[in-house]
Amino acid sequence: MGGKLKRILTGVQSTGIPHLGNILGAIIPAINFSKNDNVETYLFIADFHSLTQIKDSEELKQNTLYTASAWLACGLDPSRTIFYRQSDVPQVTELSWYLSCFFPYNRLMLAHSFKDKKDRLKDINSGLFNYPMLMAADILLYDAEIVPVGKDQLQHLEITRNVVNRFHNIFGETFTLPNEHLQEESKLISGTDGEKMSKSKNNIINIFASESELKKQIKSIKTDSTALEDPKEWQNCNLYNIYKFIADENQIMKMKSNYKNGGYGYGHAKNDLLQLIIEKYSEERKKFNHYISNPNEVEEILIEGATKASITADKVLRRVRKKLGY
Ligand code: ADP
Ligand code: TRP
Repeated sequence: MGGKLKRILTGVQSTGIPHLGNILGAIIPAINFSKNDNVETYLFIADFHSLTQIKDSEELKQNTLYTASAWLACGLDPSRTIFYRQSDVPQVTELSWYLSCFFPYNRLMLAHSFKDKKDRLKDINSGLFNYPMLMAADILLYDAEIVPVGKDQLQHLEITRNVVNRFHNIFGETFTLPNEHLQEESKLISGTDGEKMSKSKNNIINIFASESELKKQIKSIKTDSTALEDPKEWQNCNLYNIYKFIADENQIMKMKSNYKNGGYGYGHAKNDLLQLIIEKYSEERKKFNHYISNPNEVEEILIEGATKASITADKVLRRVRKKLGY
């Protein structure tokens, strides 16, 4: 009873409308996690990070609206989660500066966010180079204890702990040392081409799209050339592999037996997937459309979140400034 709440924090980059992979792999698990009684959740839209890639102010704004609307449509409850936009708590940039003065340039050069793009050095801005310092500040500014992330973000968590230790070695205990909570790999959703679904690959399914757009995306799912009347293999079928993550037990069994019996073409299966998405996510689709047509409502929620987040941010920053003598 009444024990201290664990503080969970995670950020999402706002780079477009979240797709089915983002929803099943990140959004729903994070929302479910936040329903736990012994946790306190901070969730923010990392729009400062997005600026490393996107230079169009309208696009940045639009992406924030899409991302926030998707989270709210999928059930994020702003009364349980402090939901805010990173740029509304600009204290994070101050902390990021302090941290970067404690982290060696040489080590930052080894960060994946930068290293993967090193062969295109002329496209790299110093913001991208400093990306891990801003991410460390995102986490440390709120005394976060647990950070749910995918495998690709583990190095950023290591860097965060490393910079904390460097700071502590000089100034003593100041920050909360965060731990990652690794997301399950078993939930990797494949895209319409069979590769991992990703915004950058043009292989996504957008559950919020209009029916005709959604139909187009589902139609483009690659399948083999087994004839309609012949039995089909569900094990390696890309279409089935997407269906199984959304359907319930009975629906999965039915599709498997349809595949085995033959007389059920990929066109039928695609139609079943389309109907399933439209039915299963009807509430989410409605809510998403509501939020993107009422951006002021979203704005209000984010501002309220930022007001709460700022209280923690100021407290932590005061602690740090005091250590630094500012
Ligand atoms: P994208 O590859 O579309 O740009 P991000 O890298 O922004 O997606 O990922 C945001 C979150 O969604 C991460 O937590 C990531 O693990 C999760 N995610 C992304 N793609 C998938 C997928 N195909 N299946 C499951 N989870 C995914
Ligand atoms: N870098 C993360 C990603 O690309 C997004 C992010 C920014 C984040 N700041 C964070 C995640 C702080 C967790 C904690 O997915």
